[in-house]
Amino acid sequence: MKLSQQLLNNLIDITSKSAVACYPFIGKDEKILADKAATDVMREELNKLNIKGKVVIGEGELDEAPMLYIGEELGIGDGPEIDIAVDPVEGTNFVAKNLPGSMSVLAVAEKGNLLNAPETYMYKIATGNHIPKGSVDIDFTIEKNINIYSEITKKKNQDITVCILKRARHDKIINELQKLKVNIKFITDGDVAGALLVSDPKFNVDIFLGIGGGPEGVIAAAALNTLNCNFQGRFLFKTDEDINRAKEMGIMDLNKKYEIDEIVKGESIFCATGITPGDLMNGVVKKSEEYITETIVTHKKSYLEIIKKVVSLT
Ligand code: FBP
Repeated sequence: MKLSQQLLNNLIDITSKSAVACYPFIGKDEKILADKAATDVMREELNKLNIKGKVVIGEGELDEAPMLYIGEELGIGDGPEIDIAVDPVEGTNFVAKNLPGSMSVLAVAEKGNLLNAPETYMYKIATGNHIPKGSVDIDFTIEKNINIYSEITKKKNQDITVCILKRARHDKIINELQKLKVNIKFITDGDVAGALLVSDPKFNVDIFLGIGGGPEGVIAAAALNTLNCNFQGRFLFKTDEDINRAKEMGIMDLNKKYEIDEIVKGESIFCATGITPGDLMNGVVKKSEEYITETIVTHKKSYLEIIKKVVSLT
């Protein structure tokens, strides 16, 4: 079974509609309501599809947002069996505060082909497809990775840009990067988009790294895999509850380094519609009673394609 063009078109419609559902909440400081609006539309629309879908990456436990929960079955039920990763609002703070970079995201693969990620943190590293697989590595020091990157690309440190979430937990890494005189692109949220910035030189990001959500890591990997980019991730567990949940999900080696082809196997589709405008695509624009959306898509193609849509609520 291959993922059809029809399924791709349906998924673009769905993330477009869920992004539009969020539009009334932009800048309203109501991140839970924004997430709920997008989640409800995503669930309703996925349930209309002729698929036997199962949510393997849901949302909710890290930030107690309204959930499309892991294990939830979606679709009419007699179509192809697919794994679904949902992130109805990636960057809830961005929507709440009307800041750039929020998007509504879906990724799918054939049944059994997306890693079932627990709601815990993940240390991630990503580079573009001009870097040979296995050269930059999550197990190397920051300095070694920068040296390797510099050697391969012939770029000086001051011409290398690393994207990282601005968090206190990254202070040590940031310090090292600054000592190495590397440029830093700080993001305040939204590390799916952050990771995707390595996919095209036009974004001027060489390496993405740092600790963010595990589910977001799987979603980013789905897009990066299609684009032949590099991604590695390692889950981080804080509590016994996290560890027990991971074990229930079949993760026995808690320290495992996941390569991209262990996170997503085979063909996948990734769709992300901008809610507020961002580096990757524009946000929802209202024109009288219609909404113009921009969705980036990866499916077989080796680039991020932008699809524009007009969504009408009537
Ligand atoms: P939400 O949209 O669910 O709020 O997540 C935003 C996000 O920035 C993710 O992109 C990232 O992986 C995670 O939160 C980081 O978590 P934390 O804010 O706890 O550092």
